[in-house]
Amino acid sequence: MNSIDLSKKQFNDLKTMVYVTSGINLHEGKLELLKSKIAKRMRITKKSLDHYLTYLQTDEREVVEFIDTMTTNHSFFFRENKSIEFIVNQFNGHPQKKTKLFKIWCAACSTGDEPYTIAVQLKALGISFSILATDISHSVLTTATRGIYRADKLKNVPQPFLHRFFQKGSGKFVGHVKVKKEIMAHVSFQEFNLITDRPVFYHYDAVLCRNVMIYFDPPTSEIVTNKLYSSVVPGGYFAIGNSESLMNMNHRFKSIPKVPSLYIK
Ligand SMILES: C[S@@+](CC[C@H](N)C(=O)[O-])C[C@H]1O[C@@H](n2cnc3c(N)ncnc32)[C@H](O)[C@@H]1O
Repeated sequence: MNSIDLSKKQFNDLKTMVYVTSGINLHEGKLELLKSKIAKRMRITKKSLDHYLTYLQTDEREVVEFIDTMTTNHSFFFRENKSIEFIVNQFNGHPQKKTKLFKIWCAACSTGDEPYTIAVQLKALGISFSILATDISHSVLTTATRGIYRADKLKNVPQPFLHRFFQKGSGKFVGHVKVKKEIMAHVSFQEFNLITDRPVFYHYDAVLCRNVMIYFDPPTSEIVTNKLYSSVVPGGYFAIGNSESLMNMNHRFKSIPKVPSLYIK
């Protein structure tokens, strides 16, 4: 079954449910995508359309599984590394570098490529740090916690980092790479929904929320940005994706000249 009949009301109900739960804004242009994703989940859960829609209303985990199919979890190592490099250099030049534990939050970390990218750069400089990496999707967090990746996801990783912090797979893991334990020990993964969960106030030296607000409408992006503002310490950093913008948004972050997508509190 490749397609299903979805009434206007069913589409609108789903659109509302996805929006309220995740902030993801599905417009009419997404109807065909939505239908194919429902058909896929119906096959997996072995339910008819009516049964599946009822199930979706009553099972929180299925809602997240469903939302998972509507977003892309696409990520890779050293993606848009300019803002990360800037943050790492700032921490490295910090007057309390030797005694301070830098706290970083990767909100919407997907499969972990982003937090591990930060971790290897901080580790190489002997900086003390801890990273909380969160996402709405438990399946991406399972992958992140394993720390095993197809080698092509690491093609942007500079050789010295690759040699020092990753292990080449052998046997059934040929073509894969594993993040070493000394890096994994600095990163903890947790579920966190940017729409419905509340962060810790004034806690992080840097918060990254990259390539997720593209799915949100402007009012939702503004709410999320201000929510994350509250979790950054004064003088801390806030990074968004290169194709995202805080323009036309009411927020108190200051932009950093010459470093696109990076802000300071
Ligand atoms: C394209 S990935 C971005 C990964 C990484 N930040 C990067 O830039 O490579 C977007 C991630 O946002 C997550 N996401 C979507 N809605 C979310 C929400 N409401 N709360 C938390 N994470 C969400 C998705 O599950 C997905 O893993």
